[in-house]
Amino acid sequence: MVYIQRRETFSASHRLYNAAWSDDQNEAVFGKCSNRYGHGHNFQLIVTVKGDVNPDTGFVMNLVDLKDIMHREVIEHVDHRNLNEDVPFLKGIQPSTENLAIAFWDRLAPAIAAKGAQLHSIRIIETENNFVEYFGA
Ligand code: NI
Repeated sequence: MVYIQRRETFSASHRLYNAAWSDDQNEAVFGKCSNRYGHGHNFQLIVTVKGDVNPDTGFVMNLVDLKDIMHREVIEHVDHRNLNEDVPFLKGIQPSTENLAIAFWDRLAPAIAAKGAQLHSIRIIETENNFVEYFGA
């Protein structure tokens, strides 16, 4: 089993806010991440795919195919968007980095499986110091 990785980047804005809570409670939990008009990040999305090496190609999966899948399923939907408002597959979901990882997994896993490989993990780098990693469960 070999693991391959591909990184893509996107810029997006979000606001962490729970509509069921008071402004004070949102401020207490989310701090400046709850500021009314949101804030932006230059996110990095790193996808790890695993599989056996195909003896004909020497590849686990063609990285061009992985790049295309990442763009088609995720990047073109989220890049330069407001994650609270603009992305149909995130509607009603708190756009925390944790929830982004789960939502991206659900879109990427079937497309990668269709190419004969297996999604192993999703890492999202939100800031210089904050990362989320998800293994599908
Ligand atoms: Ni943020």
